[in-house]
Amino acid sequence: MLTRDEAVTMIENSVDAATLFARYPYRELAAVLHPDRNPGDTRAHQAAATLNRHYDDWKRARRQTVTTATSSYTLTVPHAVGSIATTYRTTGPHLVKLVRDPALNPLIHAEWAALRALDGFTERHRWLRPYYPRLLDTSGPVARGDRAFSVLDPLVDGFVTLADIGEAFPDGLDGRDYAWMHRRLLRAVAGAHRAGLVHGHLTADNVLVHPGQHGIVLVGWSFAVESGTLPLATDNSAEYPPEVHKGLPMTAATDVHMLHRLTLSLLAPTETRQREFATWCTQEDPAQRPDVVDLLDEYDDLLGELYGPRTFRPFIIPETGA
Ligand SMILES: Nc1ncnc2c1ncn2[C@@H]1O[C@H](COP(=O)(O)OP(=O)(O)OP(=O)(O)O)[C@@H](O)[C@H]1O
Ligand SMILES: [Mg+2]
Repeated sequence: MLTRDEAVTMIENSVDAATLFARYPYRELAAVLHPDRNPGDTRAHQAAATLNRHYDDWKRARRQTVTTATSSYTLTVPHAVGSIATTYRTTGPHLVKLVRDPALNPLIHAEWAALRALDGFTERHRWLRPYYPRLLDTSGPVARGDRAFSVLDPLVDGFVTLADIGEAFPDGLDGRDYAWMHRRLLRAVAGAHRAGLVHGHLTADNVLVHPGQHGIVLVGWSFAVESGTLPLATDNSAEYPPEVHKGLPMTAATDVHMLHRLTLSLLAPTETRQREFATWCTQEDPAQRPDVVDLLDEYDDLLGELYGPRTFRPFIIPETGA
């Protein structure tokens, strides 16, 4: 256990913040020098002030800045760790998605292509715009060994992922809560298919949900391809349909399968009818799976049968013990 004397001496003799914090974490030093533990101890108070100055310098130095052809973005804290990239908050209204391995830059490029295609598509179909993230800027081509990144509109206020929701409901979701999410997911996926794209990575992490506004945004477009083409890569942790395991091209039916696998993983086991619906969409043979466009009506019919006319049902995520 660090003593007051050791902490004071170390700070008084410290050359720079990085060396100091390499030896002792800020929190530990700050706890030992806390004014409540050292009443009337001027030397300890001065050391605490020096410590805080060092800490501010250190945090600033650790901030990474990434630049594009027109702008630079200062990263503050990691926002989320994704399958190929980490997303970072910045000092401005941006989220930077930085690939972790430069070998996977082509996947970031694929995401730019997909998001640009969706941008063009939603110019003509404006009501679909809220379902997709906005690409604000890109790294553009980077030097060999450098990492590509996307600059996205940050969806951080009030949004959680479907993975977070799954964790908050370990016994599965009530079909009435899942209903509005799935209706919107079907619309988001149907829109992408009309734009000629396959999302190709429909996982719980890639769906952002705004519980208060019943909003859905489909993120994570790095594995997106034009329908009928082979994926650039696959994610070992994702549950792919048989055609992907067989090395066949991805089509709209691939998304239908992945989306409904996701449904099955989220719905409570008692949601028999919705589970039957999802199982029908996860048939082995892609040709047997229904088209998403047809599913929009079929799902609404099922919901009508199960729950009657649609009403707004508030969705509250239970507080965890943390
Ligand atoms: N626009 C956004 N606003 C807020 N959070 C986002 C946004 N885009 C992504 N995220 C968060 O960051 C995480 C990682 O981003 P993303 O899923 O795009 O990258 P990835 O998983 O590495 O790649 P992939 O495109 O294959 O999914 C997401 O799971 C989500 O939690
Ligand atoms: Mg992702």
